Amino acid sequence: MHNAQITAFGCYVPPGLLTNQDLEKLVETTDEWILTRTGIHTRHLADPAVATSDLAVEAARACLAQKGMEAKDLDAILICTVTPDMFFPSTACLVQDRLGASGAWGFDISAACSGFVYGLTVGANLIRGGMHERVLVIGADTMSRIIDYTDRTTCILFGDGAGAFLLERGEGFLSFHNEIDGSGGEALKMPAGGSRMPSSRETVEQRLHYVKQEGQTVFKYAVRKMEEAALAAIAKAGLRPEDIKVLIPHQANMRIIQATAERLGLGPERVIINIDRFGNTTAGTIPLATRDAVEQGKLKRGDFVLFVTVGAGFTVGANVWRWTI
Ligand code: UT7
Repeated sequence: MHNAQITAFGCYVPPGLLTNQDLEKLVETTDEWILTRTGIHTRHLADPAVATSDLAVEAARACLAQKGMEAKDLDAILICTVTPDMFFPSTACLVQDRLGASGAWGFDISAACSGFVYGLTVGANLIRGGMHERVLVIGADTMSRIIDYTDRTTCILFGDGAGAFLLERGEGFLSFHNEIDGSGGEALKMPAGGSRMPSSRETVEQRLHYVKQEGQTVFKYAVRKMEEAALAAIAKAGLRPEDIKVLIPHQANMRIIQATAERLGLGPERVIINIDRFGNTTAGTIPLATRDAVEQGKLKRGDFVLFVTVGAGFTVGANVWRWTI
């Protein structure tokens, strides 16, 4: 049986910035509250004409360029997003066309902040199944389109961004531990715009096309499940927490990341945090943090790396890989 390895990565964030000082002018908040409660300082925001497929295409091109590979050689494209350009066609179809990936099929994965880890798990298993050799997994979200910039409890948290990993045959994928728990669905959701509550003048007036979150509920669940999923994936890989060279967590809140690292006994030098610069980019956080880990010299060929996340759904995901770039 073939295993999968990560052979290239690429990221993209739009140039526009939204700082805590900007938010102080929009809602009743302070730079100090945002920094101490979340760790976020700035976020990148896409221009109105830019959509998720645009971010995804830029990340994909950066990833393919790193490998020196042409898009036509891809077998599949998986787009992890909760902010697709539209319901259908899928963003995978839009990106496949823009890239000229004439040999690829693909589809979108909806798992909110766990999207990229689920995409890695699915992509690795497509390769392990033997019928795919090159799978591009892209996490891309334009959260600014579904954020209510009058709601101080959510608008401070999110940013826009994308990242891609190229998966090919090789010895990299060690384990996964993914879970969903739909009983948490009410705690983080976008109520309107689907078949349950189609778009109407009322839903627009009631601002129901935006992210609604019970912050404390999600926070407590995330702290508990990040640790549980991480330990389960580490055990399935036949490793101990101390074997993990780098923890690359989803970037939702600095305090969740620090609690997870402490519970796993991993010192700050082994944990990647870039929430201060990007906020929560949903499916984009893990590839963006991976790029930082490599650029900072913290993640090197042969290291064991743990990706772990909790998101809306609830969704929970953890992967252990050997880094092979
Ligand atoms: O990636 C998807 C998963 N999402 C997450 O993991 C997010 C998890 N949740 C969180 O990160 C945190 O719960 C938040 C950052 C959203 C909120 O932080 P918190 O420490 O849980 O605050 P809280 O909701 O308990 O609110 C504390 C106080 C409240 O005021 P009162 O009722 O004590 O008077 C809020 O109204 O802080 C107030 N507050 C704010 N104050 C200034 C809430 N948002 C703000 C704000 N600026 N932006």
